[in-house]
Amino acid sequence: MKTIGVVTGGGDAPGLNAVLRAVVKTAVGEYGLRVVGIEDSFEGLLDETHTRELIAKDVRGLLPRGGTILGARNRGRFVERTPEGRTVLPEHIYREAMNNLERLGIEGLIVLGGDGTLTIAAEFDRFGFPVVGVPKTIDNDLAATELTFGFMTALDIATEALDRLHTTAESHDRVMILEVMGRHSGWIALHSGVAGGADVILIPEIPFSMEMVAQKVIERDRRDAQFCIIVASEGASLAGGGAIYQDMGGVDRAPRLGGIANFCCNELERITGKETRSVVLGHLQRGGRPNAFDRMLATNFGACAVRAFMAGEYGKMVALQAADIVTVPLAEAIAQTKTVPPDGQLVRTARDTGISFGAPDECQHHANLQETASATSTQ
Ligand code: F6P
Repeated sequence: MKTIGVVTGGGDAPGLNAVLRAVVKTAVGEYGLRVVGIEDSFEGLLDETHTRELIAKDVRGLLPRGGTILGARNRGRFVERTPEGRTVLPEHIYREAMNNLERLGIEGLIVLGGDGTLTIAAEFDRFGFPVVGVPKTIDNDLAATELTFGFMTALDIATEALDRLHTTAESHDRVMILEVMGRHSGWIALHSGVAGGADVILIPEIPFSMEMVAQKVIERDRRDAQFCIIVASEGASLAGGGAIYQDMGGVDRAPRLGGIANFCCNELERITGKETRSVVLGHLQRGGRPNAFDRMLATNFGACAVRAFMAGEYGKMVALQAADIVTVPLAEAIAQTKTVPPDGQLVRTARDTGISFGAPDECQHHANLQETASATSTQ
């Protein structure tokens, strides 16, 4: 193996550049390989191709730098959507890319991405082209790894936003609703909600009722606190309703979520009469410097990916499991989305510390827990 390519796909995440730096340092410095960066995700492998060699000086200073020096694309020609919403991986595009890889002398790829990008990587593997994946998503929704880099930074930003909303909410006796990212999984909302002392957490895994959320706001108002902090995943949905979309996408793009905070803001003001404001945190969660943990994880993933490559572990993805970096088959990595278990430990802890999820059966849930507790204490 003399030359490997490296590609960053999908939305960016803090830590992508730190992985690139580790890949180049390990591959060039330790194994004497040549590293070629593919620009604009996999699109750089099509048409006249956009690539550039990466040497040590190209990755200098990249550890704290957000974004990706190679550019990123959410979707391109490697995945097509049928009008019915089905995804198709067009074979002629993969053949063109593999011909170009051969022409450029690139003998394998290290692919940094989330489920969409890793699906493309798995297809290269199916065609027999050597690939190793590195998991990336601020949503932390890949089941095969306990953490993806970018998540901890996003969590810090969301938690800081909640801290800041607390002081203004308290000063004005208002309800403040923060919308955070998380399409199918509520990890950012759950973790930041617990870390930032939210009163209500709304996540896709626990459909909510507006009345239950309003009840929590009113209860707090009657007791000691006239303000209330709510954090909502963009993918949270009303029980019996659906998630809220900004637009329904098209043939080249999936539907785009957004608007849950604004929706709840209007509804809560109507039901409770309390002054309410909404804030969408958006891409502030993805831009800028990775925190220390993400830099460390990204560096470890990058170096381990090169080592996996050199060991011939093609078709695998590096993953964090039990504080160790292991490799798992790519097929396994893309097979399952990691969602928040509604009865999991952190949800339970959140409830025990007074946080509501707005679940329609939340009162019943509490009653059951209290019943179990008093039954146990009288035994
Ligand atoms: O997958 C990460 C993610 O941050 C999602 O939580 C969010 O819905 C999406 O990316 C936003 O992507 P875009 O940059 O296309 O708006």
